[in-house]
Amino acid sequence: MEILVTGGLGFIGSHTVVELIENGHNVIIIDNLSNSKIEVLGKIELITGTKPKFYQMDLLNFETLQKVFKENKIDGVIHFAGLKAVAESIQIPLKYYENNIIGTINLLKCMQDNDIKNFVFSSSACVYGFPNKNPIDEDSPSNCATNPYGRTKCFIEEILKDCYMANPTFNFTILRYFNPIGAHKSGLIGEDPNGIPNNLMPYILRVAEGKSDKLHIFGNDYDTQDGTCIRDFIHVVDLAKGHVKALEHINNSGLNIYNLGTGKGTSVLELVNSFNSVNGNLVNYDFVERRPGDVPVNFAKTDKAKNELGFETKLNIEDMCKDSWHFSQTKNKL
Ligand code: NAD
Ligand code: UFG
Repeated sequence: MEILVTGGLGFIGSHTVVELIENGHNVIIIDNLSNSKIEVLGKIELITGTKPKFYQMDLLNFETLQKVFKENKIDGVIHFAGLKAVAESIQIPLKYYENNIIGTINLLKCMQDNDIKNFVFSSSACVYGFPNKNPIDEDSPSNCATNPYGRTKCFIEEILKDCYMANPTFNFTILRYFNPIGAHKSGLIGEDPNGIPNNLMPYILRVAEGKSDKLHIFGNDYDTQDGTCIRDFIHVVDLAKGHVKALEHINNSGLNIYNLGTGKGTSVLELVNSFNSVNGNLVNYDFVERRPGDVPVNFAKTDKAKNELGFETKLNIEDMCKDSWHFSQTKNKL
C-alpha cells in the first residue's frame, strides 16, 4: 500500500516508517521538523535501503496538503504529527488545540476530497484520565484527560466518531498508546526531542549521559509496591509493528479502538533499577514531591489488539533499557 505518514520523522513515526518499508509498503512522509531532525530521513534509508518521499511542511498549511494528496495515489494515512508535551500544553493550550486538532481536520478534509478511507490515529492512554481499574480496557470511560494535550486526543477521537457516523465507509483505527520507550536495535533512530525532555526515559538518558546530575523521581508515597507510579512501558519497535498490524486489518473494518501496551505494569523505580543493572550504574536518583496530574497506576488490557489484530509485544523492559542507551551512545558518537 501507499501510506502517507504524518510526523514520520518523529520518535514513533520513524520506527513505524521502517516497519512499513520492511513489510513492503511505499511510504510518503510529511513533517514540519518542529520536534525532529532531517537527518532521520537518511537514517531510515541506512536501515531499510529505501529513502521515502519526504515533504517538509506543516499540516496547518491546507493548500500545500491538498497538493500532496493530488501528487500521490494514497491508500491510507497514519497520523502521528502532533505536539505532545503535557506541561507545555498547559502553558500554551491554544497552540496545542490549533496544531493537533486543525492539523487533523485538514487531513480528514483531504481524505474526504480524494475518497481515501483508511486512517490510523495516534491516540493515548491519557484519554482514560484517572482510571477506575487496571488493567484498563478500551471501554473504560475516556474523555477525561487531565491536561490540554490529552484533551486534544479526546476531541480528535470524538471528531473521528462524528465523521464515521456521517460516512460509515471510512475505516478509522484509533490506537491508544501506553508509554513507548526503547529505540531501533541499529542505534540509528530513537527518541531525540528538541529541547529539555520531560518524559521519564529521555530524562534517564540525560542523567546517564552526564548532562544532568540526578533523576528526580516524582513521588515515592503512592499506594504501589515501592511507592512510585506504575506505567505500561512498551518498546517503540513493538509499537511500530502494531501499526503494520492495524493497516493489515483496516479494509472494511469501520471504526475501532485498540490499546497498544504490554499489559504489564512496571514501576518508575523498577525501570530505573533495570536501566542501571543492564547498562551499568549510570543513573543516580532522588525522590522528590509528586508531580501534579500524575496517574498513580496505568497499564493496558491488551486482549482486543491480540484477538482482533494479532498484535503481541515481544520485547521486555531490559530490551527497552538496553536499546534506549545504545541509541543515546550512537547519537553522541555520530
Ligand atoms: P514526536 O514529537 O517525536 O513526533 C511527532 C512529529 O510530528 C514530529 O516529528 C514533529 O516535527 C511533527 N509535527 C508536529 N506537528 C506537526 C505539524 N503541524 N505538521 C507537520 N508535522 C508536525 O512524537 P512521538 O512520540 O513520535 O508521538 C507521535 C504521536 O503519538 C503524537 O501524536 C503523540 O501525541 C502520540 N503519543 C505519543 C506518546 C509518547 O509517549 N511518545 C504517547 C501517546 C501518544
Ligand atoms: N517521572 C519521574 N521523573 C521524571 C519524569 C517522569 O519520576 O523526570 C515519572 C512520572 O512522575 C510518571 C512516570 O515517570 O510517574 C512516567 O512519566 P512520563 O512523563 O514519562 O509519562 P506519563 O505516563 O506521564 O505520560 C506519557 C506521555 C503522554 C501519554 C501518556 C500515555 O507523556 O503523552 O504517557 O499514558 F499520553
